[in-house]
Amino acid sequence: MSKTIILSNRLPLQINITKEKLQVTPSVGGLATGLKSFHREGDSIWIGWSGLTEEEIPVNLKAEIKVRAREDACITVSFTAEEMDGFYYGFSNRSIWPLFHYFTEYTEWESWQWEMYKKVNQKYADSVIEHYEEGDKIWVHDYQLLLVPNMIREQRPNATIGFFNHIPFPSYEVFRTMPWREEILNGMLGADLIGFHTYDYERHFLSSVRRILRRPVEFNEVTLANRVVKVDSFPMGIDYEKFEQTALKHHEISEDQETELQQRLNFHRKKSPDSQLILSIDRLDYTKGIANRIRAFEYFLEKYPEYIGKVRLVMLAVPSRSDVPQYQLLKKEIDELVGRINGKFATVSWIPIWYFFRSMPFENLIDLYTSCNIALLTPIRDGMNLVAKEYIATRTNQTGVLILSEMAGASHEMNEALIINPNNFEQIADAILQAIKMPKEEQIRRNTLLQKRLKRYNVVRWATDFMKALDKTKENQPSFKAI
Ligand code: ADP
Ligand code: G6P
Repeated sequence: MSKTIILSNRLPLQINITKEKLQVTPSVGGLATGLKSFHREGDSIWIGWSGLTEEEIPVNLKAEIKVRAREDACITVSFTAEEMDGFYYGFSNRSIWPLFHYFTEYTEWESWQWEMYKKVNQKYADSVIEHYEEGDKIWVHDYQLLLVPNMIREQRPNATIGFFNHIPFPSYEVFRTMPWREEILNGMLGADLIGFHTYDYERHFLSSVRRILRRPVEFNEVTLANRVVKVDSFPMGIDYEKFEQTALKHHEISEDQETELQQRLNFHRKKSPDSQLILSIDRLDYTKGIANRIRAFEYFLEKYPEYIGKVRLVMLAVPSRSDVPQYQLLKKEIDELVGRINGKFATVSWIPIWYFFRSMPFENLIDLYTSCNIALLTPIRDGMNLVAKEYIATRTNQTGVLILSEMAGASHEMNEALIINPNNFEQIADAILQAIKMPKEEQIRRNTLLQKRLKRYNVVRWATDFMKALDKTKENQPSFKAI
């Protein structure tokens, strides 16, 4: 029976070794959290990196890791520390990530990192070939693996290959600065179908193909010598039911007793009806606009001092890519900002910013989502931002206000949120005030519409739509028809 081979850099499970024992935790990030619901439901295997380098895995645990991954229908590919350095900490996260998010001043162009990127992409492609059987469908994900579709195509010319990019695709004027731009575009064009979260990313990609490769582009199709590549937008959804159901269970438990988080924050809805918690959750990443958010919150307290002592910002930042210098600098900047603002405004009984720099179990995440009546998400650029969707899915009584940056892909589908420009502190401060004062009926009206949409376009629907479009594209390929 044919299967789907999912390929991404990171697997949905992260393996660590403590005292010679395996520890398995779920991976953080939109790709892994979103796609695993589709993976669980279908007949698929998922190939990716376990999170450890070859040097970090003791010989006696190598087999155990493979077996453990297999339990979740995953196959691990391992890399040396040097490969990871050039491929992951290097070209993926010091070149492509900043470039595709318009942080051009952060981009580095190192030939050795590019060479490692090619080498590791080839390893991934070879691993797919090893597990591929005639009739399988291959679905490659994200910016770490842009060359893989064509590498597979070279070895299996008739394979059905889909590619989905989880981050923005920048405009031609930005993309053209990439030294290896032709190779990147040709790598992606190895797929039959290329998907993006939004129409704008799709349009930018097609414009780069036309202007850099001089390939004919008609509507949303690129014509190659013997194939046509279709490009389309598929906004990724969430596992709505999982978030909704867990939130409902959570409410049952916490209706009369305080959760751990509420105790720690000295907060309970019934006890303190006047006080407000504003939530933000992100990986600690410069694209997420965390520093802007803190400064905008400071500005809010200055502009509306009557809320000092009444409103708190609860900020969860999950450690990410900490070997990349920009992430270390950001961590320092945020620590200093939080310290300065807490020092400036705190009273004996109130601290304005509660800052957690760590990962949290799923239940605590739900606790945060359900305890905070406002979510403030201010990315400078974000492919989608699933946290925005998860927050709305957990608001089971339909109250709560989402303030969301217009730079997040999610804002295109979430018009009922308060949409802000993350660089406009005046607008953010006023949106916080509007959120605090928003009547319950209005909150319910907005969230009902949002929830209806998110429920319908959930992650399984997203994946199914993509796979159906992939089948259709394949059926219409001239080379496929000739077989
Ligand atoms: P990105 O993919 O850039 O990290 P998204 O907002 O799209 O941003 O996705 C982040 C995902 O990571 C969400 O699905 C969120 O639930 C998950 N997540 C965030 N923080 C944690 C955490 N502490 N533990 C587990 N999952 C988390
Ligand atoms: C974003 C990317 C994913 C990545 C995730 C976490 O969601 O689109 O590809 O897995 O961030 O980043 P990390 O570098 O830890 O895999």
